[in-house]
Amino acid sequence: MSDLLRAPAELKYAEELDWLESVDDGPKPFSWRLSPKMVRLFVLGSERADGLDREIQQKWFGDRSIVERAIVTLASDRGLLLIGDPGTGKSWLAELLAAAVCRNSTLVVQGTAGTTEDHIKYSWNVSTVIAKGQSRESMIPSPIMTAMETGAIGRFEELTRSTSDVQDALISILSEKYISVPELDSDNIVFAKPGFSVIATANSRDRGVNDLSSALKRRFNFVRIPVVTNRRSEAEIVRFRTEELLRRHHIELDVPPTLLDVLLQSFGDLRASAAAAGSDDEKLESSLSTAEQIGVLEDAVLHGNFFGERELTARTLAASLVGSLARREPEDLAILNKYLHGVVEPRSKDEGGAWPEFLEGGRDAIATLS
Ligand SMILES: Nc1ncnc2c1ncn2[C@@H]1O[C@H](COP(=O)(O)OP(=O)(O)OP(=O)(O)O)[C@@H](O)[C@H]1O
Ligand SMILES: [Mg+2]
Repeated sequence: MSDLLRAPAELKYAEELDWLESVDDGPKPFSWRLSPKMVRLFVLGSERADGLDREIQQKWFGDRSIVERAIVTLASDRGLLLIGDPGTGKSWLAELLAAAVCRNSTLVVQGTAGTTEDHIKYSWNVSTVIAKGQSRESMIPSPIMTAMETGAIGRFEELTRSTSDVQDALISILSEKYISVPELDSDNIVFAKPGFSVIATANSRDRGVNDLSSALKRRFNFVRIPVVTNRRSEAEIVRFRTEELLRRHHIELDVPPTLLDVLLQSFGDLRASAAAAGSDDEKLESSLSTAEQIGVLEDAVLHGNFFGERELTARTLAASLVGSLARREPEDLAILNKYLHGVVEPRSKDEGGAWPEFLEGGRDAIATLS
């Protein structure tokens, strides 16, 4: 497992999941591997009040009620649709839930304009069909069909990006819970086993969720995932991800807490100015999500590790921030420039600390890009 670039949650947390399963005496819906309370514990981490012998790490940060509603939905007849801005952790939550419930988070269909009905139902292995004809053997089940056959959770990423005939095919799967295979004369219906459910995600900035047909909407429970605005949770998420990154690259590098503060503060400032901006031209193109913040820190950490003195500096952080957020020239560069001049410069005079170096690093980066 250590030689995977990115292990799915059920592998990464296999030991934790085994342990939770061994102490779980709660009732489990269908063939679930964990009871609903244990699923929640796995996702949100343990608290002292849980009275466990060991600590379970928090993996997704957000409201408990969101997670509970999601879990309840999975045991219900409807699918679960997680909607929210880019980078709010929808896919990550979907992965964690699937890992906890059925130990398989990899039965995933990616919704794109090119997704076809075959991708969510089945297709044929042409050479086997030629050799042996159409049979169950020559059929290639989609991840969703595999989920049905095994009573597992199928995932559908970016549901709203797929075309309406694909969405229509999903309607019948979610309501009838079987897929018929008219090409076969016998054994031509694949039924879903108990435990089968679907977790879909949709990006609220994409083609609207409203574009989903009302028939499909009715077959999903919508759970909205808000952007994390709480500084403390955001700091936790960023720290959690960074530790993971450092571990993955075997990097021993110091990320000073003051620099984490600088990062959080600068994102806070930029979000506030985006909220106050009149037109799109005055807003950075980036959604300034937590994920974006993690990206900035990741780049800076790697840069510091490869080319620096094995420490993260305010200068590198500023360069990474500018590099990641300046997507449109000249609009984004102008916004960042204005931010450095109007906010960071006065702050570095008043507060000092890491800010003067951050300011200098940001200016140099902008100068290089313009
Ligand atoms: N609330 C959160 N808790 C834990 N991690 C989070 C949270 N929000 C974002 N992240 C981290 O941010 C990264 C991006 O999250 P993810 O891919 O799940 O976002 P998304 O909502 O699916 O975005 P998109 O709409 O662009 O697909 C992940 O590495 C995830 O760990
Ligand atoms: Mg996603």
